[in-house]
Amino acid sequence: MKSKELKYRISWQDVWEKMRNDRVGRRPRVTYDQDFQRKSTKDFSNRCKWNDYELGRKVVNVLGNILKDDFEVLEIGPGPGTLTIPLSEKVRKIACIEASKANLEILKENLEEKGIKNIELINEYWEKAKIKNSFDLVVCSHFLWMVEDLEKHLEKMEEFSDRYCAIVQPCGRDEVVKKAFEEICKERYMGQFEPDADYFAYVILREWSRLVDTCFLEYSFELKLEEGVRYVASFLGKFIEVNGGVADKIEEFLTSEVGETWEVRSKAVIMWWKPASADFTNTDHVI
Ligand SMILES: C[S@@+](CC[C@H](N)C(=O)[O-])C[C@H]1O[C@@H](n2cnc3c(N)ncnc32)[C@H](O)[C@@H]1O
Repeated sequence: MKSKELKYRISWQDVWEKMRNDRVGRRPRVTYDQDFQRKSTKDFSNRCKWNDYELGRKVVNVLGNILKDDFEVLEIGPGPGTLTIPLSEKVRKIACIEASKANLEILKENLEEKGIKNIELINEYWEKAKIKNSFDLVVCSHFLWMVEDLEKHLEKMEEFSDRYCAIVQPCGRDEVVKKAFEEICKERYMGQFEPDADYFAYVILREWSRLVDTCFLEYSFELKLEEGVRYVASFLGKFIEVNGGVADKIEEFLTSEVGETWEVRSKAVIMWWKPASADFTNTDHVI
């Protein structure tokens, strides 16, 4: 156990469990389109690919100071390749652990589209994965809400890293979704789906005395009206059933709010640190 003996400790576990159950514990109830799930998976891939992987490229730019072209990377939950694809151009090899076969198929398509060959794909749950080697960088992007035991997750990331660990997490979302939630669900928005898992990881890592570098960035993607309705429905469906009538209301709301094409603006945070095993005499990230 890496936890230090501390007189005062922030008890975040209870809040984490409740928030996580609220956010990922229940699947959205969306009944207006039988093919909603498949279309949403494809939409997600298109969002990640927007502007030639804008988010991933910006992340790689930020991590540019630590990345070396001989790096071997382990990525947990790559999805459609949001980070994998831009990162693959900067490092020697990436091993990806992805639990979903459907997402793995999309990732394969996206890799082929770019002619990328330095990726090893492992169809496995991260918690169960038996990993033999260690890596220069262990990274996960938009993954923290998938994790039940955050401390164990961070410990495992560190266990397989010789040099660096990094987390990319959304940390701010367009106001339009929140406004749609208040108008259609008739509930006040009080952070019910705020993408704010990053600060839990920060608290844990600082309690372990890790020096966590942090950088925030903005990125955007465009949604056509039909995709916008699915995007909003995926949030609202956790609170109300999105049937045909509700889908029409979302469409009406979006038409008046953003028109036919919606430029969604989001924020992400990148946190990176050296794990306990890394050489601590090297303080190149301390000013
Ligand atoms: C929200 S997506 C993020 C995708 C991508 N990293 C990004 O930044 O856009 C989370 C991904 O993690 C995968 N995943 C969820 N739980 C997992 C687990 N326990 N082990 C491995 N992959 C998992 C999901 O299938 C999905 O592809």
